Amino acid sequence: MKKMDLTVDLGRGLVLPNPVMTASGTFGYGEEASDYFNISRLGAVVVKGISREPREGNPPPRVVETPSGMLNSIGLQNVGVEAFLARKLPFLLEAGARVVVNVLGSTVEEYVQVCRRLSGCEGILALEINISCPNVKEGGVQFGMRQDLAAGLVGVLREATDLHLMVKLSPNCGDIAGMALAVESAGADSVSLINTITGMEIDVRTRRPVLGGVVGGLSGPAVRPVALRMVHEVYRAVRIPVVGIGGIVEGLHAAQFMIAGASAVQVGTATFGDPMAPLKVLDGLCEFLDKEGVSAGEITGSLRTGTP
Ligand SMILES: Cc1cc2nc3c(=O)[nH]c(=O)nc-3n(C[C@H](O)[C@H](O)[C@H](O)COP(=O)(O)O)c2cc1C
Repeated sequence: MKKMDLTVDLGRGLVLPNPVMTASGTFGYGEEASDYFNISRLGAVVVKGISREPREGNPPPRVVETPSGMLNSIGLQNVGVEAFLARKLPFLLEAGARVVVNVLGSTVEEYVQVCRRLSGCEGILALEINISCPNVKEGGVQFGMRQDLAAGLVGVLREATDLHLMVKLSPNCGDIAGMALAVESAGADSVSLINTITGMEIDVRTRRPVLGGVVGGLSGPAVRPVALRMVHEVYRAVRIPVVGIGGIVEGLHAAQFMIAGASAVQVGTATFGDPMAPLKVLDGLCEFLDKEGVSAGEITGSLRTGTP
């Protein structure tokens, strides 16, 4: 059987040998997974969100299993940009991984500083901007909830870096296609979606929220149909590449996202159940493309609507 071309070019230098990446926050900095497989086989590794200073995150408990998924309120816990560059990036580069750094901040200035600091560093291919962070100057409203705030942030970051800017959209914003258009106009090179859907779980005995952060983000197979619908909506609205995320567990799920319009995908929660999940998704996707006789590029956006 002829092996299909898996290469994807997401623009501004972000060319991946295949469309399967890890999703931020579910793969750490690649160290644990390296005990299981060669992480250079993945299209790219997207690392846990990085801020200017190290952050502790939310009080425990921080995760709870839910039907077909999980809720997390990890918060913005991370090692901070300097420790990432000194202690985490060298390992990823040594392992041959293509690195995408997920960036977070509480102010526009913080995002700018982190992006600038990462821009000069060899081996970083792209920045994924997590706009689901509370903007302290706007009284805690998330950048990703308002199109004007998101576009303002992306416009400033566009000036601050020449790296590929992938903007990660929140499903909680209401009009996700409008949001995608807003960040595209402001200079985003691609959009990735979805981040987690806000939810909560309650212990009826204590009448207390199960999570220390009260509310959390829902992820895993439970969100896949929502994510698929949103990817398709966004694909139809914008011209920049779309990266599909949400509940991908096997290769055929990745194929679904690509048919809906994604040029590439990320695998998140599935990794907690099986550290090999991203690789299995890649192998399953390859098998599907080979069987169909189509390349990764050809399957993107090939959804057939109308009467069969
Ligand atoms: C424990 C955990 C931590 C996460 N941390 C981040 C993060 O730091 N930055 C970010 O943009 N998304 C983060 N996410 C969201 C995921 O990257 C992904 O968008 C979401 O979980 C949906 O994909 P999935 O269903 O495959 O997990 C996190 C998700 C989980 C479950």
